[in-house]
Amino acid sequence: MLVTGSEVLVPARQGGYGVGSFNTNDLEITQAILRTADRLNAPVMVQISEGARKYAGTEDLGHLVADLASRVRVPVALHLDHGSSYASALSAMRAGFTSVMIDMSHLPFEDNVRETKRVVEAAHAMGVTVEAEIGRLGGVEEHVSVDAADAFLTDPDEAERFYQATQVDYLAIAIGTSHGAYKGKGRPFIDHARIEKVAARIPIPLVAHGSSGVPAWVVERLRAAGGEIGDAQGIADEDLSRATKHGIAKVNVDTDLRLAFTVGVREVLEAAPAEFDPRKILGPARDLMAKIVEHKMGVLGSVGRV
Ligand code: 13P
Repeated sequence: MLVTGSEVLVPARQGGYGVGSFNTNDLEITQAILRTADRLNAPVMVQISEGARKYAGTEDLGHLVADLASRVRVPVALHLDHGSSYASALSAMRAGFTSVMIDMSHLPFEDNVRETKRVVEAAHAMGVTVEAEIGRLGGVEEHVSVDAADAFLTDPDEAERFYQATQVDYLAIAIGTSHGAYKGKGRPFIDHARIEKVAARIPIPLVAHGSSGVPAWVVERLRAAGGEIGDAQGIADEDLSRATKHGIAKVNVDTDLRLAFTVGVREVLEAAPAEFDPRKILGPARDLMAKIVEHKMGVLGSVGRV
């Protein structure tokens, strides 16, 4: 069932659990996400980045996800990840997205407010809900001083002013996570106190980007199948599950799916060099991605919420 972002995220914020928002680029990734959500009775979000739109086409990929989503029982929001402009957010909404992010977090505060407000007004008129971001994503290492972290992590007062000025539906905050398989030296550190301070000031669902866990088994199997990966580090399961109890309701995951996909493809091609049936090559990748989705939903506490 296709629903807005708020329809899955508001109950999550109220219930103290998280909803996985998984990036997709194709049919196999989308099926891995939606079939798992349906089997586990878990609400879910499927997100499409600007890069995915360029790769697969906004209509082709958007309509594919919307169609699959409309045929599962669980609520699914179709979300634009890191929308880069008003025009881009609008074209996603026209293609059937039920949730959009407008990411103007690189701009000065007042400009971020102005651009976000424009998108919120248009989206609400179209029955779509909106995510914006305040603060800058970046890995925080344990030894970074409070002053240094303060320079780019979300300031709770600013988050409150931003929410009041924009009436945005959910807000991404910088709490120490970052995108990709390399989230800084050592275990990335999540600023739980900051999450609690922001959550105490604003009642809307909070969003954590960069929430892949980079599981050790995936890294090991990738290396065993001939893949190359450096000292990759993800967010610990305990950190994520703690964050969802204190206000983080939307949890973005892309890297773990990419890694699992690559493991699946590499393992088949290594074991069977004569294989050339795409179904035999992509099927195991889809199964491994489903395993990632299932694990994440367990960590976030979204299993059985529907
Ligand atoms: P990861 O790279 O940790 O999967 O984060 C993805 C993300 O935040 C997309 O917006």
